[in-house]
Amino acid sequence: MRLSGVAPLLAALPSALGRLSQPPIANTTKLPTHYGLLLFPHFQALDVFGPLDVFNNLAMMYKNSTTMYLSVLSKTMAPVTTGMTGLPGSFEQRIVPTTTFTEYLNGTRPPPTNLGDIEVLIIPGGGGTRSNMTEEIAFVKQIYPKVKYIITICTGSTIVSRTGILDGRKATTNKFSWAWAVKQGPKVNWVPTARWVEDGNIFSSSGVSAGIDVAYAFVSRMYGEPVANYLAQAAEYNRETDPHHDPFSTFWEVPGST
Ligand SMILES: *[C@@H]1O[C@H](CO)[C@@H](O)[C@H](O)[C@H]1NC(C)=O
Ligand SMILES: *[C@@H]1O[C@H](CO)[C@@H](O)[C@H](O)[C@H]1NC(C)=O
Ligand SMILES: *[C@@H]1O[C@H](CO)[C@@H](O)[C@H](O)[C@H]1NC(C)=O
Ligand SMILES: *[C@@H]1O[C@H](CO)[C@@H](O)[C@H](O)[C@H]1NC(C)=O
Repeated sequence: MRLSGVAPLLAALPSALGRLSQPPIANTTKLPTHYGLLLFPHFQALDVFGPLDVFNNLAMMYKNSTTMYLSVLSKTMAPVTTGMTGLPGSFEQRIVPTTTFTEYLNGTRPPPTNLGDIEVLIIPGGGGTRSNMTEEIAFVKQIYPKVKYIITICTGSTIVSRTGILDGRKATTNKFSWAWAVKQGPKVNWVPTARWVEDGNIFSSSGVSAGIDVAYAFVSRMYGEPVANYLAQAAEYNRETDPHHDPFSTFWEVPGST
């Protein structure tokens, strides 16, 4: 038996502590390294932190096998709030961007400057998608040809649908906001009953918490199902692994839901 055949076998055995050892990344093709997060005021917190927590753990637990970078992009460098404009009080959280849209496009972003093009663009949703998204839509449209994958969460899909990129393609969105969201892309084949939808290089999820499931689905696709399962078990998360299982579509009486 060749030595290279022994290593995967050993990796599958429980360690002396009785814990499952970490499964290796299954995929031998080129893995994405540069992730981007698009932010706008009044984004939905879990749309961002659900998927990011999955990718944070991936980057940390698999740091020996893959290197990942995250760019946080917004219109300006001002911290971006979850808060709704005009909401009384100040119940909000803010994220500091790493680069503006213009700097990224102009190649004048602050260091590190050697990250290359964004390969995976994560687009959250939230109340802000109903405000003026002109600059966000233009940015996505402009960088799309060089992006390898887009992951949308919740009404984040409406930012992509308004670029025209989703025309004739399948996607889903938040079921609570369905009526408004689908109007933002009349030529999109919106899937009414779906936890998430994968159409080529675009992964779109249903509302808010569904972003966590689409993030694991993306990890499964790129890094292998054992890696996705390992990360979800470590996070003690009950994954939805069936993209067609969507009780929220019937609860919210989405037309065409089954
Ligand atoms: C990563 O590499 C370090 C140094 O070689 C090693 O100590 C550690 O156990 C490795 N971690 C994993 C998860 O393989
Ligand atoms: C970006 O490039 C454009 C066109 O070259 C220029 O007009 C603009 O001032 C630049 N903006 C920044 C922030 O570098
Ligand atoms: C939306 O924003 C764009 C770019 O900032 C601006 O040109 C446009 O006038 C705005 N539209 C509305 C309706 O405020
Ligand atoms: C491996 O990753 C590539 C993208 O880097 C993806 O297109 C492909 O489907 C993945 N293959 C497997 C078997 O996971």
